[in-house]
Amino acid sequence: MRLVSIVGARPQFVKIAPVSRALGNPELTDGVPVEDIIVHTGQHYDHGMSEVFFDELRIPNPTVNLEIGSGPHGQQTGEMMIAIERELESRRPDVVVVYGDTNSTLAGAIAAAKLRIPIAHVEAGLRSFNREMPEEINRIVADQVSDRLLAPTETAMVNLREEGLDSHAVLTGDVMFDAVRFNLELAGESSTILDELQLEPGRYAVATLHRASNTDSQSLPAIVDAFNELAQTTVPIVFPMHPRTTAALQRTYPDWQAADGLTVIKPVGYLDMLALLAGASIALSDSGGLQKEALFVGTPCVTLREETEWPETVDAGGNVLVGADPDRIMEAVPRMMNAADTSSASALGTASSPFGDGRAAEYIVKEILQMC
Ligand code: UD1
Repeated sequence: MRLVSIVGARPQFVKIAPVSRALGNPELTDGVPVEDIIVHTGQHYDHGMSEVFFDELRIPNPTVNLEIGSGPHGQQTGEMMIAIERELESRRPDVVVVYGDTNSTLAGAIAAAKLRIPIAHVEAGLRSFNREMPEEINRIVADQVSDRLLAPTETAMVNLREEGLDSHAVLTGDVMFDAVRFNLELAGESSTILDELQLEPGRYAVATLHRASNTDSQSLPAIVDAFNELAQTTVPIVFPMHPRTTAALQRTYPDWQAADGLTVIKPVGYLDMLALLAGASIALSDSGGLQKEALFVGTPCVTLREETEWPETVDAGGNVLVGADPDRIMEAVPRMMNAADTSSASALGTASSPFGDGRAAEYIVKEILQMC
């Protein structure tokens, strides 16, 4: 069986890792030889945004890197589609696998659909119900054109049912939960980031920020000022800054400087991020993945958005949505640090967990094998 797996952005490297490992295990593929051709669109290209994830998560090197890089949405997606179509025509896979909701997902799904190659969508069915988010458009289109919808949660299954897509949807659990289970111990053993930054476990916060709605708007100055205030009054913060955010700050708030207690660093790899998260007293983020990863390691999260595709994190008591409002951020951080009971997070490894049993990748591989 020949697969083409399409990835391009940081969260997709995390998602492909458990699936790629499962595909390489003959016990899980019933001895069916699987050729997995990894096509990297090049959407993320900095070493710290791409290569470090392949190294740390031991993902086979991409078979091909299309090197599309950054650009406006239409241009970036269009260039990806042209290059992916060429790859698919020459490689003629039985199935194309796309992950998540980035422009790489959209381009891969449309290119494959037009060539009538069956598509499996990993992380299908997520909805924020906010079409201002480019990711929401990507998810909706990818789900519409995919042949097998691999849903991480029961909520995602309900969303697919409501859109009439349930006949080819399957609940698998969340591959990002698989990834945390597989790598958390390793992160504790191999990451030295807490020592390097002289951080004491339980006595700092970790923050990330990269959503277009927060970086490309009036919200950005208010959020980074709130980070400064929190760092001075409440808890020291480590802030691995996404290059989009660095560029947006230079453009819109060139005078901004991090206050004492706010440590801005370059983006970190997966293992360092897990170590930072596990040691933090609280996370502040607008990332979908980080909201869950925080919960998985028992750290409360304050989410800098008004809605989430992962309502299970809020229901579990480990996450609160505050948008970009500095007053709500300032109020929520001490409250969540002091009162949040994330002990329910430890129940997440059990069979009744909303994110599956940590074997989502195995179920996904079984579904993919049935597609040809
Ligand atoms: C993309 C995804 C988003 C995902 C995020 C994870 C889309 C629409 N968005 O957002 O869903 O959560 O990745 O990080 O696909 N840049 C670099 N180096 C890089 C990559 C990006 O400097 O290696 C800078 C460039 O200035 C670029 C900007 O970051 O213009 C934005 O990159 P882009 O890939 O367009 O979107 P992300 O914000 O990373």
